[in-house]
Amino acid sequence: KETATDAWYTLTAQAGETQMLPGAKTKTWGYGTSVLGQTIVYQVGKHNHVTLQNQLPELTTFHWHGLGVTGPYVDGGCHAPVYPGESKTIDFTLNQPGATTWLHPHPCPSTAEQVWRGLAAMVIVKDDSENGLNLPHDYGVDDIPVILQDRFFEDDNQWDYRKRYDPDGIQGPTPVINGTVNPVFDVTTQKIRLRILDGANRREWRLHFSDDLPFVQVAGDSSLLPHPVTMTHLMITCAERAEIVLDFKDYQADDTVTLFTDDTPLIQFKIHEFSANHTTIPERLYTIHTPEVDSNTAIRKIVMSGMDEMVMLDGKKFEMERIDATQPIGLEQYWDITNTNDMKDGMVHPFHVHGTEFLVISRNGKAPYPNEHGYKDTVGVNPGETVRIQVRFYLPGLYMYHCHILEHEDGGMMAQIQSF
Ligand code: C2O
Ligand code: CU
Ligand code: CU
Repeated sequence: KETATDAWYTLTAQAGETQMLPGAKTKTWGYGTSVLGQTIVYQVGKHNHVTLQNQLPELTTFHWHGLGVTGPYVDGGCHAPVYPGESKTIDFTLNQPGATTWLHPHPCPSTAEQVWRGLAAMVIVKDDSENGLNLPHDYGVDDIPVILQDRFFEDDNQWDYRKRYDPDGIQGPTPVINGTVNPVFDVTTQKIRLRILDGANRREWRLHFSDDLPFVQVAGDSSLLPHPVTMTHLMITCAERAEIVLDFKDYQADDTVTLFTDDTPLIQFKIHEFSANHTTIPERLYTIHTPEVDSNTAIRKIVMSGMDEMVMLDGKKFEMERIDATQPIGLEQYWDITNTNDMKDGMVHPFHVHGTEFLVISRNGKAPYPNEHGYKDTVGVNPGETVRIQVRFYLPGLYMYHCHILEHEDGGMMAQIQSF
């Protein structure tokens, strides 16, 4: 039924079972599948009609993390419940840079538990910004989603959220990547692109490959980077995305390359015969067109404080009926986000804003990390640090901003801003 400008999708949140480990299947939730969901691709400029169906035994919401859609009903924050058995249709047209984004539930306060049960899917936004850049783009062949999560498998292979609950974020010792344990990927091209998403409730990943194989980061959360960044180690916090390109030119058939977080293996890449690829990644990938902040515009101060049940945003807990701030559409504003946790044993709070993309301006007054120069929607704020971001909204709506450690979010480290 697809026309040039319209596209139709149906998404069903459902319960199922997944063979994760030998023995009993794990009871899981997913979008149209038993766990996670098929990658969704939206084309910028198309008018999308999405039917949201809830076949779960409890209410859920469908939140588009990283999509510029008018909130909160389309955006799928806490204000947009879909009740069990219910189905409703939203529609939107995207006008934002091509990027790797994602879908996850956002009911207050059970976001963390629903994500832990398996609800999350990758959402790729396509525009023409990477035309001519020679980035690998053959989905499933050399352009691969990598959803990083961790789980605690009980003796019966089940995930027991309540049993393992931790107010600072549930964790488990077993990495689950794209809904599988110990995945192996068959490499059939010299270069591959990984679209990495930290879809964990709480965990940060410190990624590196065997042989310290260097890789090139080409995109962050919400756009390509202005320039490619070559690295051997990448740290990614909850809800952040990184697109990296790997070049296996120094490997041959039957070699194996392993992706690790610290010392834990995550994915084995099995190298097969491939044909030589002499393309290079251009030095300029993307141009940011954001106006400067007017020096008369007040700086918004945001304080993330506490740990466990004591987490707060600006000294308050989230309330659905309270609007905490307003910002006119189109106004460029600096937001200074401070994490008051102790530098030595405090936690990183990944700070996320709905419905828009922002720029990271500085960390404690110094330059942001080299891979933070593109548009983002989530930024890790280290203990004792103040991160300045430049935020503007381009659509009217009520948008949430919060810590993306999901238990902190559910615990009230969240607020909402009205753009008008
Ligand atoms: Cu990833 Cu409020 O969302
Ligand atoms: Cu979001
Ligand atoms: Cu937090």
